[in-house]
Amino acid sequence: QSKLTLKQAASFPLGASVNVMLLKTDSLYRNTVLREFNSITSENALKMNRIFKAPGVFDWSGGDSLVNFALKNHKRMHGHTLVWHRAIPKWIETFEGDSLAWENLLKNYIQTVVKHYKGRVTSWDVANEVIDDDGSLRKSIWLTHLGPDYVARCYQYAHEADPNALLFYNDYGQENNPLKSAAIRTLLVDCKRREIPIHGIGLQSHISIYHSDRRYRSGISEMSSLGLLVHISELDIRLNRNKTKDFVPTKSMLEQQEDKYKSIARIYKEIVPKSQQYGITIWNVGDKDSYQSDACKCPEAPLLFDKNYKKKLAYKGFLNGL
Ligand code: XIL
Repeated sequence: QSKLTLKQAASFPLGASVNVMLLKTDSLYRNTVLREFNSITSENALKMNRIFKAPGVFDWSGGDSLVNFALKNHKRMHGHTLVWHRAIPKWIETFEGDSLAWENLLKNYIQTVVKHYKGRVTSWDVANEVIDDDGSLRKSIWLTHLGPDYVARCYQYAHEADPNALLFYNDYGQENNPLKSAAIRTLLVDCKRREIPIHGIGLQSHISIYHSDRRYRSGISEMSSLGLLVHISELDIRLNRNKTKDFVPTKSMLEQQEDKYKSIARIYKEIVPKSQQYGITIWNVGDKDSYQSDACKCPEAPLLFDKNYKKKLAYKGFLNGL
């Protein structure tokens, strides 16, 4: 049992978000990815601000090297993300044009990218975080210029470009914000009724050791009842509740993290029907590369491996829960 790796222990795909730079420069990082995971999500390389350099100008360098790495090593490749309000290239912020020009800009971007990776990227987070915390459609440059139904059109455009790609709606907070999960449900139910090609829902799941299992269970069960594929898409479990600068994890916190990783794996298996289990993806690999320390400007240790890619108690807990 203890000799199994995560991907061997899991009955569903097990992923990590991968950083292209680290993949190139750190062999310990690369070997951990290769050994433990069978699915890869692009951390940043397939975001619009990395790819879309000017109208009609696409930079494939980062994306191609990651996607080819996945292909060569037989990992499932999940593309993240086509439309996200925080990954808008600078030049688009000053783009001028009528609503048709804006529509064509986005359509052309989505279709060029999806076609470029057709047959190599299995699934896409098409829209990321387009519902705001109060349940309304999030204000963004796309909403302003394209109107509220742009979300549905993004899925149609992506589907036209690669009819075989599985298309996901990805967001955070479904596990602790009832207002927001209700709005996501409404969006997805409406899309289903209109036969908009959305095949799955991603629950980011950036949580902490203080998050209640009961709430996580009810959140995922509500999403799961839509009948779509369910991807825990960006899991990490924070420790530093008060974001203190001199934070050092205690033994008890690391044990709570072990338990929490185990619970999440168990809840996923218990609640999501087998046929809907798209897998669990961890957001980054070792604590050193976690985006959480940057996000909170404080020390964090939310992952399965420590800064030297040694397995933490969290790893043991997760493995036991799988
Ligand atoms: C984060 C990356 O990890 C950072 O490196 C980057 O600077 C900002 O984006 N939700 C998402 C991800 O959907 O795309 C975010 O990734 C983390 C939060």
